Amino acid sequence: MRILSGIQPSGKLHLGNYFGAIKQHMHLQHDNQAIYFIADYHALTTVGDPQALRENTLNVALDYLALGLDTQKTIFFKQSDVPQVTELAWILSSLTPMGLLERCHSYKDKIAHGIFPNHAIFAYPVLMAADILIYQSELVPVGKDQKQHIEVTRDIALKFNSRYGEIFTLPKELIVEEHEVIPGIDGQKMSKSYNNTIGIFESEKSIKRKVMSMVTDSKTVAEPKDPDQSNLFALYSLFADPDEREAMEQKFRAGGTGYGAVKKELFQKIIDYFAPYREMRKEFENSLDNVERILTEGAQKAAEIAGTTLNKVKQAIGVLF
Ligand code: ADP
Ligand code: TRP
Repeated sequence: MRILSGIQPSGKLHLGNYFGAIKQHMHLQHDNQAIYFIADYHALTTVGDPQALRENTLNVALDYLALGLDTQKTIFFKQSDVPQVTELAWILSSLTPMGLLERCHSYKDKIAHGIFPNHAIFAYPVLMAADILIYQSELVPVGKDQKQHIEVTRDIALKFNSRYGEIFTLPKELIVEEHEVIPGIDGQKMSKSYNNTIGIFESEKSIKRKVMSMVTDSKTVAEPKDPDQSNLFALYSLFADPDEREAMEQKFRAGGTGYGAVKKELFQKIIDYFAPYREMRKEFENSLDNVERILTEGAQKAAEIAGTTLNKVKQAIGVLF
């Protein structure tokens, strides 16, 4: 299967990104032809500072490489290094009804959170459709919040194929059902827009401070607690094996364990889990030339696939004779 996913360099990657997307990306690359890219043009819709965009992009590259990207097999690159995709986005725009984009939750959410609605925020799903379709992707692993964008992509592809001929593969989303929404330290969905994240590669000190400040109810140590209502338990479960999870669930229900003690255990779990990845990241940080080479080679491979699709598209729509 050809699978594809993009990750925006719009801030530091956090546990929600890891368990909602990245972990799955790493698993999937073994038995599939995986294509992963850093969606810097998507991030441009919200990141206006060039230095920040540069830093975030490098950080995402380092994070992905450290977290186990298979550089021998997987195609990994920056979206903006394959300009064919923005060309396709324009072509797809002509087939995209305004109403389809107006209905997108992520667009409505961004506006509700006070983000000034520029054209690119509105057109965001069209560029995403171009990303997916230009590589003839079959499966797109993403978090639940991106599901609608894949549906939009299918709508656009169907429209194109029925007007111009069967050029695009129809993609399907792949959602990790088990942990659909990872909660942040305040209990809402973990998201960099809500300032409630725990970064994968944040300093230990900062992770400790955040875990210890996680919001809980005010039950005393002695009182029984409901694991299903606890963001602490939800995060702990991501790191625990089934036996540990079961034991923690019983401790919650029995009472006698305070939230402070659970927080300490959670903190240690996070540190232990990511320790080997931290080591890997240091190695890549010390060989930035190598990182650059990986991205450049990835872009070359991606551009080959993109170019083939774009040629077919241009012939089909009548701009190439
Ligand atoms: P953010 O909400 O922090 O801006 P993004 O929108 O850049 O994160 O998300 C990147 C990927 O990580 C997407 O596939 C998204 O669905 C997934 N993701 C982000 N936050 C969470 C979360 N709290 N739970 C599950 N998946 C998440
Ligand atoms: N919109 C995605 C997100 O915010 C990132 C993305 C851009 C993407 N293009 C994509 C994901 C193509 C999957 C496929 O997470």
